[in-house]
Amino acid sequence: MKWIIFLALVLSIIACGQGNKAEKADMYQASELSAIMREMVIWSNEAKATLAAGDTIESVPQSFYDLATQTATLGEHDEAAFKGMVPLYTDALKGIERRDSQQYYYDASIQACKSCHGVYCGGPLSIINQL
Ligand code: HEC
Repeated sequence: MKWIIFLALVLSIIACGQGNKAEKADMYQASELSAIMREMVIWSNEAKATLAAGDTIESVPQSFYDLATQTATLGEHDEAAFKGMVPLYTDALKGIERRDSQQYYYDASIQACKSCHGVYCGGPLSIINQL
């Protein structure tokens, strides 16, 4: 299954982030935010498998809490709508760390991806829907 996620990631680079900047930049360099998003995809995929196996998610990468301060390709990180939606995700991560109901908070974390991507770049939704 994993290669499908990676393939989808490669495709999403085309679908997301590049936008109008593609004309200005010959070479697409992943932004800080893109890089962390890719780690979030891989981690979420593993977390899903962990829960499906009935196991406990041991830890959440602390770098994910820095989401709001990572620079985005098109400056989305500076926008109020973006900042407003970051807590949806980080609060879900805290729930996973508290180990209340990890399934509940995992689902909430994926819902947070969908909320933000519904506004900011729909490309990755095809990957997010598999998480
Ligand atoms: C608060 C808003 C927000 C949340 C929450 C969010 N994203 Fe993103 N995501 C963005 C923005 C904005 C970009 C564009 C980043 C850029 O191009 O610099 C992006 C980019 C991406 C990309 C493309 C990365 C690339 O290769 O360029 C993927 C994949 C992605 N997000 C997946 C996810 C997943 C999975 C989650 C949840 C675990 C998530 N996102 C949560 C806003 C968000």
